[in-house]
Amino acid sequence: MRTVHLAGETDFDSWRDAARNLRLEGVEPARVRFVVGNGRDGLFGDEPIPPRSSNRSFTVSKAFVDLAREVMLHRDADRYDLLYRLLWRLQDEPNLIKVTSDRDVARAVEMAKNVSRASHKMKAFVRFRQQGEGDNEHWIAWFEPAHRVLEKTAPFFARRYANMRWSILTPDGAAHWDLKTLTFGPPARKEDAPQEDEIEDFWKTYYASTFNPARLRSKAMQAEMPKSYWKNLPEADLIAGMIADATGRTEQMVNAPAPEPNRRFDQVKAAVVDRAVTDDVVPENLDDLNAALAGCRRCPLWRDATQPVCGRGPKRSRLMIVGEQPGDQEDIAGTPFIGPAGKVLDKAMLEAGLERDTVYLTNAVKHFKHTVRGRQRLHKSPSAAEIDHCRWWLDHERALVQPELIVAMGASAARGILGHTVSVNDLRGRIEERPQGALLLTYHPAYILRHPDPNERIRAQKAFSTDLSLAAAYLKSTGKVLS
Ligand code: URA
Repeated sequence: MRTVHLAGETDFDSWRDAARNLRLEGVEPARVRFVVGNGRDGLFGDEPIPPRSSNRSFTVSKAFVDLAREVMLHRDADRYDLLYRLLWRLQDEPNLIKVTSDRDVARAVEMAKNVSRASHKMKAFVRFRQQGEGDNEHWIAWFEPAHRVLEKTAPFFARRYANMRWSILTPDGAAHWDLKTLTFGPPARKEDAPQEDEIEDFWKTYYASTFNPARLRSKAMQAEMPKSYWKNLPEADLIAGMIADATGRTEQMVNAPAPEPNRRFDQVKAAVVDRAVTDDVVPENLDDLNAALAGCRRCPLWRDATQPVCGRGPKRSRLMIVGEQPGDQEDIAGTPFIGPAGKVLDKAMLEAGLERDTVYLTNAVKHFKHTVRGRQRLHKSPSAAEIDHCRWWLDHERALVQPELIVAMGASAARGILGHTVSVNDLRGRIEERPQGALLLTYHPAYILRHPDPNERIRAQKAFSTDLSLAAAYLKSTGKVLS
């Protein structure tokens, strides 16, 4: 028996050289064993392999090499023996790889599929957490891949998160990106990675609040997010409890009496039903504007909303922040940005040194657009026409508040300010000086909360904080105090 000692688990080149020599020497698969490591110096164990004679050679198809490169990432200890068996047989059966009913081929193809799935899951389930601030900022993730896919998958993260300094730590090794170069280091331990960060709490609250127990499909959910990955997913802490509660919560939903009609809703509608607002009525101050807003019939959104949500903040402010439209909680309370999106905004404002009391906060659309599903009212994006109708109010707010800088969060806010559609991704993060006052486009906090890709949430949250800091720096550079 020949034993070939490979230097590492994914040492494909050594396997290929050894396999080629063994094949040329006619060493049958039953007489060879490939093992990883165990302290031997050379590649070959019991007997030295005679040097390859230069006039004998053979070639294999690219399809086999590609398959072999995937299979060697599998955790099965016999994978290199299987590959040698295939290599051996290829000489007499050149089309073997196409025979999917063959046991060896079928096993290799299945292993390659497992590896590809592990790489896919890694792209979906790596969760970065922030360590350090400013120049020391570093995003670190702990991940336990089902197979040895770190080196195969790390270039995806380098492309996707090219502007973040990050490390992915795994029990097989670590990948590091320093904004320029991707490098690999030794295996790490879970304790080497941060265990949680601040944005995670917001996101967990949001994740739990969007969970509808009546729509639970735990089999489908577990197929997409296999349990083996749960231990390293922040949101997974919540899943078991939510599933356990689901039956009880569904029963409660079914048995609950129909909700009382919202009395405030009816009162507001009754009071304003006759108050028409026309383009000639120019509000002279914010109080007039807000009173007139109660009678707004410019578009049909008023019908299903509890009330219009007016802007909040000083009557004059150097900074105006514009969102899209009130959410469920804002609609009920009549105050902008008090729900989950407001929490993300508050955090970023705090980090940027912006005090909420000194900022005028408003929305492009003043009524909550939604659809009703069961007892939930789900956000629906306003149409371009609805934003355009509501511009009348936003324009008057701007004229009264006279901000030096407007921060427009998201595409609806941008349209509300500019009157046409722009791409936030393309234009965000730059202050544009305009005759009517400077403008800075940024992400909407709900984008950060709702994006299905956790790493995109992190990237967008970081960009959002940077943008608000830019707004604060701009105001500092042009004046002393904010309001
Ligand atoms: N989202 C917004 O755009 N505005 C709010 O007031 C709340 C959530």
